Parts: sequence; structure tokens; C-alpha cells
Amino acid sequence: MAEDLSISTSTNKAEQYTALLPQIEALVSDEPDLVANLANVCAALKEQFKWFWVGFYMVKDEELVLGPFQGPVACTRIGKGKGVCGAAWEQGKTLVVADVETFPGHIACSSLSRSEIVVPLFHNNIVVGVLDVDSEHLDHFDDIDVKYLEQVVGLINFNE
Ligand code: SME
Repeated sequence: MAEDLSISTSTNKAEQYTALLPQIEALVSDEPDLVANLANVCAALKEQFKWFWVGFYMVKDEELVLGPFQGPVACTRIGKGKGVCGAAWEQGKTLVVADVETFPGHIACSSLSRSEIVVPLFHNNIVVGVLDVDSEHLDHFDDIDVKYLEQVVGLINFNE
């Protein structure tokens, strides 16, 4: 396993994801431990994209519970349907929020967060967690992030 990531300096976001994806695959493919893999996925994404906050919430006892993340301390538990994370869990689909202030029920773990993308993690067709990314910039996420972040979470192996 590579110890250092090769960070793309391209100004093109798709190219950055394209360079990062095989490295994330190499990081997680031979490691069965879920927490280790979630932690490294966060670290790799943070290192490439320098987002304000990137991390996982995992479904436990009918709640989302904070998992590995990179960024400031965050809310620990989120109910189903609550906030952007709980809505993505309930709807089983990726949600992109250009301005968090316009999202009814948005949970502000940090007042600095302005836009957000939440991508569900599926195992056996059931949502088992979400990847949450926050930006301090408005309208920071688009279809390119949806496409590639869905590929990123698809690399995570749940068969421990
Ligand atoms: N804003 C999220 C809560 C999690 S934090 O952003 C890390 C939400 O509304 O679900």
C-alpha cells in the first residue's frame, strides 16, 4: 500500500477525482476493517480537496452515529429524516444542497458550513451510512461530485 497520496494539481475537478479514485481503491481493497477504510477515505478526500468537513455517519440502532471524519468536531447523532444526512438516509439517494440555509431542518454542526453533499452507503440494497461533505463556500458541489463520490463509496467493502 502506498504511504503517500499523489495529489493532483489539475484545476479540473473530474481529473482530480480520476487521479484519486485508483489510489483510494488501492488503500481499501486489501483491508477488511471498515473503520480503517472509512478513516482513510476521509483523509484521502480531505487531502485532495481541502473541504471544510468530510466524514461518515453510520446507521446504528435506527440513528446515524458519527464515524471517521476530517474537520472540526461535529454532531454525534442524527435521526432518520433529520437534516441533510437523515434525509439522504431516508430517501436512499444523494442530496446536493447549494445553500444549507434553504434546506428545511438542516443541522448546523458548524455555522461556517454553507453548502453540502450527502451520499448514502448501500450494503445489500440497504442504507448503512452516509458520506457527508461540507463546504464553507456556497454552491460548491455539482454533478461531478455526485458521480465520483458515489464511485468512492462504492469502493467500500462491508464484508468484514
Ligand atoms: N449538516 C448535516 C449534519 C452533519 S454536519 O454537517 C457534519 C445535516 O444537516 O445533516
